[in-house]
Amino acid sequence: MKKDTTVARSSFSGRLGYVLAAAGSAVGLGNIWRFPYLAAKYGGGIFLLVYLILMLTFGYTLIVSETALGRMTRRSPVGAFASFGKKLPFRLGGWINAIIPMLIVPYYSVIGGWVAKYLFEYIKGNTSSLAQDSYFTDFISTGSSVESWFIGFSLIVILVIITGVKYGVERVSKIMMPILIVLAIFVTIYSVTRPGALEGVRYFLIPDLSHFSWMTIVAAMGQMFYSLSIAMGILYTYGSYIKKDVDLEKATAQIEVFDTAIAMLAGLMIIPAVFAFSGGDPDMLQAGPSLMFITLPKVFANMGFGTVAGIMFFLLVLFAALTSAISLAESGVSTFEDQLGWDRTRASILMGVLIIVIGSASALGSNVLDFVSILGMSILDFFDFLTNSILMPIAALATCLLITQVVGLDKIAQEIEQSSAFKRKKIYNLFMKYLASVCIGIILVSSIANVLGIISM
Ligand code: PFF
Repeated sequence: MKKDTTVARSSFSGRLGYVLAAAGSAVGLGNIWRFPYLAAKYGGGIFLLVYLILMLTFGYTLIVSETALGRMTRRSPVGAFASFGKKLPFRLGGWINAIIPMLIVPYYSVIGGWVAKYLFEYIKGNTSSLAQDSYFTDFISTGSSVESWFIGFSLIVILVIITGVKYGVERVSKIMMPILIVLAIFVTIYSVTRPGALEGVRYFLIPDLSHFSWMTIVAAMGQMFYSLSIAMGILYTYGSYIKKDVDLEKATAQIEVFDTAIAMLAGLMIIPAVFAFSGGDPDMLQAGPSLMFITLPKVFANMGFGTVAGIMFFLLVLFAALTSAISLAESGVSTFEDQLGWDRTRASILMGVLIIVIGSASALGSNVLDFVSILGMSILDFFDFLTNSILMPIAALATCLLITQVVGLDKIAQEIEQSSAFKRKKIYNLFMKYLASVCIGIILVSSIANVLGIISM
């Protein structure tokens, strides 16, 4: 294994610091915006059940693998893979994991900018303007406005990263995550107590077997990757900052609970409110991106205390998006530190430049550059597709192959058992040996078939 190079490695103060930072990474736009509409579309309770089973088995396997490899090698993904071999497959495996967050954080920050803009407008009291049909489209069609909100959001991310792991990433997570939970509980109570909302609660929680299909599993699996921040280098990086006495299994369980609890609260926030507003029309829930920026503002404008609810909701989403964006950028910075031997400030500035350059293409893709279309997608949608549907399954496959073919399941068990019993070892071994690669193959093939129009997800 390689010795530590030039820069001293950062670390979290203990398990709580790691759990809150990892949960901060996991809880993001994926939980609040993506999970509710997928759950509604793919059968409510049935989707939830499939999601929970997958998260506790397949998701668990991947979280444990990445954190254990990170902690074992004390390296972000490129260095972690290189610790086991110098040949091309090792380099490719490491770099694919490392590049994904660098490609995600720019477009993620564009959406973070949209969220900040909505929060600002709610604070100004513009609740009814935000509820206009054309508000969102007019906003994203104005290049200068989208770009400035995007740059503002990105600067906060970079500032936190420059500050460091313990005092930046960990401290921000320790402040924002508890506030996020309190806000989530408030907005959920507000939402489920609206007249007519109970019908939506039932729709979200009670399984409807007639909605169960193959796509329920595929969609739940894709969402699990997205939501748990798996296969994007983050957990390798965070694993490399964990001390050897931190109980990895317990930490993983806490991250799972945190991420799922917020996703379920988000479902309870959004689905009943939209249900009450639309008179029980489930089609309104399948709106995708427009759900949060178009439908929800209408719901708030038509309900009592709509401005307060709007402020709380978008503040919650902003915190969730910020902590996730910070983790994505941290993963990139850590790769630069490890591979280039740069100090944190220089590495953070390089990451900042990358965010601004690549992100601007996504920010301007809905206005100045709206003539650009890649495989029929806008620039932002293309980056989302490339990372989530193509690169992430390949990155996860690389991790599985590294463990099964090179590192060995025993070494992973040893790493976990250094700090605790490995209670879910049987499930872990079963998934690692047989099921994980099959599941990943299913996601990859289904996503490509979806884009080619062969199946519809
Ligand atoms: N896991 C976070 C979320 O659910 O929003 C952050 C995230 C990372 C989202 C990577 C999407 C993504 F592709």
